[in-house]
Amino acid sequence: MNTQVGAPQATARQIARERYAFDVTLRDGSVVRLRPVEADDGAGLRRFGLGAAMPGPQPHLLNLPGAPSAHIDSLLHADEESSFTLVGELKGRIVALSRYVRDARRPDTAVMTFIVDEALQRKGLGTAMLDRLAEVARDHGVEIMEGEVHASDPRVLNMVVASGFEVMSREEGGRLRVRFDIESTPEYEQRLHAREAKSSAASVKIFIEPRSVAIVGASRDPAKIGSAVLHNLLRIGYVGRIYPINPGTDCIGSVRCYARLTDVADEIDLAVIAVPLAHVDAVVDDCIAKGVRGILLLTAGYSETGAEGRERERKLLAKVRGAGIRLIGPNCFGVINTDPKVRLNTSFSPIQPPPGSVGMLTQSGALGQAILDYARELNLGLSNFVSVGNKADVSGNDFLQYWLDDDRTNVILLYLESFGNPRKFSRIARQVGRRKPIVCVKAGRSRAGARAASSHTGSLAGSDRAAEALFRQCGVIRTNTLEELFDAAAFLSHQPLPAGPRVAILTNAGGPAIMAADACEAAGLELPTLEDATVQTLRSFLPAAASVANPVDMIASADAEQYRLAMKALLADANVDSVIVLFVPLHPGSPQRVAKAIREAVAPSCAKPVLATFLSAQGMPPQLEGIPSYRFPEGAVTALARALAYARWRARAVTTPVAFDDIDEEAARAIVQRVRDRGGGWLSPRDAADLLTIARIPIARSLLAESLDAALKIAGEIGYPVVLKAIGPSILHKTEHGGVKLNIDGDEALTHAYCELTQRLGEQMTAVLVQQQIPAGVEILIGAALDETFGHTIAYGLGGTLVDLIADVALRLAPVSESDVKDMLNEVRGTQLLRGWRGSPPADENSVREIIARLSALLTICPEIEEVDFNPTIVHTRGAVVVDARLRVGTRWRRRGPRPVF
Ligand code: COA
Repeated sequence: MNTQVGAPQATARQIARERYAFDVTLRDGSVVRLRPVEADDGAGLRRFGLGAAMPGPQPHLLNLPGAPSAHIDSLLHADEESSFTLVGELKGRIVALSRYVRDARRPDTAVMTFIVDEALQRKGLGTAMLDRLAEVARDHGVEIMEGEVHASDPRVLNMVVASGFEVMSREEGGRLRVRFDIESTPEYEQRLHAREAKSSAASVKIFIEPRSVAIVGASRDPAKIGSAVLHNLLRIGYVGRIYPINPGTDCIGSVRCYARLTDVADEIDLAVIAVPLAHVDAVVDDCIAKGVRGILLLTAGYSETGAEGRERERKLLAKVRGAGIRLIGPNCFGVINTDPKVRLNTSFSPIQPPPGSVGMLTQSGALGQAILDYARELNLGLSNFVSVGNKADVSGNDFLQYWLDDDRTNVILLYLESFGNPRKFSRIARQVGRRKPIVCVKAGRSRAGARAASSHTGSLAGSDRAAEALFRQCGVIRTNTLEELFDAAAFLSHQPLPAGPRVAILTNAGGPAIMAADACEAAGLELPTLEDATVQTLRSFLPAAASVANPVDMIASADAEQYRLAMKALLADANVDSVIVLFVPLHPGSPQRVAKAIREAVAPSCAKPVLATFLSAQGMPPQLEGIPSYRFPEGAVTALARALAYARWRARAVTTPVAFDDIDEEAARAIVQRVRDRGGGWLSPRDAADLLTIARIPIARSLLAESLDAALKIAGEIGYPVVLKAIGPSILHKTEHGGVKLNIDGDEALTHAYCELTQRLGEQMTAVLVQQQIPAGVEILIGAALDETFGHTIAYGLGGTLVDLIADVALRLAPVSESDVKDMLNEVRGTQLLRGWRGSPPADENSVREIIARLSALLTICPEIEEVDFNPTIVHTRGAVVVDARLRVGTRWRRRGPRPVF
């Protein structure tokens, strides 16, 4: 139950209204808004067909006892605890209703009802309502749903089964009694995500392959944006129908123009709007009246401009969603589809990129022009180019889902400034990344950059380190610059992934080869020794002055035929996973001949990637036919290293978040809830110790004592040696206050230490912590923090004072998988100390992994924990112990907040 106990009813309703409003895209791409029923919905419900005197068969999907037809009034004014009603709204009309009514005797059980307008059945609306109503019901503590269906009409039963729930049914006199647990199981989650993916893809289609496009604001002035869009569509031969809209003229060029959208007799799929801000609302009204299915809003002046613009955008979105229309933008640059069957360019760029397999999405429209220019210069083919602008409605996530199943797209490039919903991005990116590489340049690395990104797109940029962690976890290849983004794309769109790190370098000049070899080493790639057979083959046709070790330097006299033979030999070498071929042109005409020879040497079925540095050529030179070329060797090496990291990520087994069944979740939640009820704050040492014990994270035993006698008693229980730590509200840094006494090995030493602390700190000290003294070992830190945008991040690094200085810390988003934890340890250079350094015995790395994993599980159980610091944690040859555990419970986390806009 989310609403606070005792909150006024109006507030509870207000919260429900925000939290439980969902826009669902149906199979045909239209959008229905699901929202809690409102007190003034009576007329709408009657129009929909509900009421005591409903004639004929009612449009029930599931006919249950207590169906609301006779109870409109009770339905409108029911309290949220005993029942909940969601209505579906399309174009201002109620078209569907779903409701559960709780069983008064069994509050964990409810009876469910669905009613969907005939015309909207079989489009996925029933399932969408079932998903959302189950979500609401779960939040309110309902566990079981029951209902009845006609045995002769199994549609509802099929729908519930297909949605992923495990259904039990029993026939009673021609009716089936249906019962199912609404707990969200992995099977259900999987099907739910598959449904979401389908509906996202459907919503994008209208912008990628519309059958007709209207350009509202198609200007007579060729310098204007609307005019540019019109001319792009005409010039590239868009296959659909084009309708320019401009009240000032009957035709633009030879194309007939309409004064208003509503003047067009035919159906319009997509409206591109390029009119000044003041006119947008009126044009959107026309779009609604005309029944367009998608709006691409180029006009700027919305959330990117501040509070007023945000409000304008919110209203616009509510309006278009209410009408079932999807929106790209506002403040965007347009969409391009190079598919010869469509040939769409709704951008205002004069550049039509060559067709290819790269799908590109940019959050910055302004960069769009530069990006298209660059892609053309590199001869890199695109499948789609999309600028999503402010992402008020359709977002990058929707396009990722679309590209997942799009046969024309093999590589996905993203220019991002912010995440709408990082968790959703992470889930989708992981899924897409298993089939197609995603390369991303994310702006906002620096603090200044992040501020600029946030004011630029009107969204929160989130912490960059958390973004980095997210990319690593979901296999997204992150690049630092747009140039590197395209370098990676040139490789990935035409070359196979490398099977390993072993690179052969072939060259006709020493210098570039040395640069390439250095870059390989720095990037973690290897230059293997070549097989004897390869060396002999190379010797057989190369001059004596050539070097046949790796790098193979054929010297300046190398001709095209030698390149061909050498490439063949290197690709056949079992020690080689990929080849970087360097060529410095020394004779006129030679680049073409050498390029052709290299191309010929690489069989179409070759499974090893080849990259070239034809000094000065960059991108996809036509003569190299699919072998990417980089201006300098370092570019080739970086692209290859990134592809290898991606290949390794992809080769790993799909890993799910770590889970433990030995943690008493109720007990853990009770401790955290107690602190939360007090308004949050740091856990007392005792609560912290209890919580860690529940999570089975080893912690140094410690207890608080308010007197010497109590301290002596506790030390007796814990066993010597112990440590004494002074506690008091003003003693934050105990060591600096001289408030820590180590190596106390008996009652006498403890009495002495206690007196010393009392003398030194006087009134400041209110108690002492008596703690088991942990033997020396490797000191590490493990911690966690709640990031506004990304949720919990977990950190691991070496402990001690150097940690802040050298920043050798690995970060991952919770929940982590086993391989995430392994990666964290591998990423921190200081982990060498754990693995045995300069003769010291190796420490217990597994126990470190387990503490990280258990902390992740604890955060899933108690997300209200906002800050965690296990510093130091001491690792021994067997086991690890958290010595100091600080945990802070906050009030920011909400189990289910209002849904972010995707
Ligand atoms: N319906 C149809 N056409 C209309 C109209 C309406 N309600 N209102 C105006 N028009 C027509 C105008 O008559 C004009 O045509 P004309 O030149 O033949 O008379 C055309 O639309 C354009 O109107 P204009 O007033 O000249 O606007 P503009 O082209 O100077 O600016 C925008 C319009 C959308 C470009 C501008 O408001 C804007 O937002 N620019 C920023 C866009 C941007 O940067 N987007 C992000 C990219 S990254």
